[in-house]
Amino acid sequence: MSADVDDDDDCYQAIEAAQFFYKLHGRRFGSLNTAYMLPVDTDEFKRSSLFHRLIQFMFNGRVYIGPVKETLQFGAYRKVLDLGTGRGFWAVDMCDLFSWVYVTGVDAAPIQFNEVPPRCRFEVWDINTPDMPYAADTFDLIHARCVHTGILNYPRFLSEIGRLVRPGGLVILIEPDLRQLADDQPEIEYTFGSGPRGWFTLWETYRSCLVSLGIDVTVPQRLGALLEQTGLFEEINEYTGTIPVGFYPEDPRILTVGQLQWMAYDLLLPGLKPMFLHLGLREARVDRIIKDAQQDLYHTEYRLTSHLHVVYALRRPH
Ligand SMILES: C[S@@+](CC[C@H](N)C(=O)[O-])C[C@H]1O[C@@H](n2cnc3c(N)ncnc32)[C@H](O)[C@@H]1O
Repeated sequence: MSADVDDDDDCYQAIEAAQFFYKLHGRRFGSLNTAYMLPVDTDEFKRSSLFHRLIQFMFNGRVYIGPVKETLQFGAYRKVLDLGTGRGFWAVDMCDLFSWVYVTGVDAAPIQFNEVPPRCRFEVWDINTPDMPYAADTFDLIHARCVHTGILNYPRFLSEIGRLVRPGGLVILIEPDLRQLADDQPEIEYTFGSGPRGWFTLWETYRSCLVSLGIDVTVPQRLGALLEQTGLFEEINEYTGTIPVGFYPEDPRILTVGQLQWMAYDLLLPGLKPMFLHLGLREARVDRIIKDAQQDLYHTEYRLTSHLHVVYALRRPH
């Protein structure tokens, strides 16, 4: 580990932000939240950008789902919070789309764009904190996408969201499932080494590493139930989308989704190596796991898919 920082010169705070990063096995990580063990560097920005576009294809051209327009339409000073904003793709798009809305993006790493619309701001802190630094009922809309792998207590995270969103305000949660399917069958259906074994082994390894970091890997498939359990939300809408991985779909829109997911996974695989090594797997084994997964990603005859869990709900009145 070292304190070296890559110079991503279009990131804000690039120079003074050295304390927010560390290098691990050649990749850059955020030091504020040690539970989150995916890199925060150029390849990861590319991956997030691909996923952001994938979401737009899933949501018929939009970056959001649910009654966003209705939630934001009245009032001159609407406020939106994006938790685990990453590069800030969503936050910036929301500012561009809703010219009267103020968007705050929060992340443990200062990796956001340097030049952003004036109504967009970024803050750097760990969203695992039990007391997020805002007053109750501050936000009209709270969005958290692809962040559960950095959240140590997801139910508490949801309770905080419930405190911060105003009554009638909207929460949108989006998390990819960490289990994979081949020809519509889950991993568990493939026994005795059958199926795309390399692909499944990589995901099993990823999940067990997350568990050892204290992450609940079942959060994506339980988003709706977890939101319900807080007792703070109503009109809970839950969707599970199927995302193809690769170039086999015939429908042009689904094919684009498959291509984007394929490219995103191609970037994800090497990004997992530092985590696997850090958690004690031997390098030769890690290289083998990643290589076998790549082999399946590039050449399998199975139709790989995974699920995307999407939930939106309104904050109950007090
Ligand atoms: C996979 S990226 C997704 C980024 C963005 N939400 C998107 O969908 O494009 C996950 C981001 O969440 C951030 N993150 C994860 N756990 C966090 C935590 N506990 N506090 C703050 N940020 C966190 C990471 O630093 C990373 O930038």
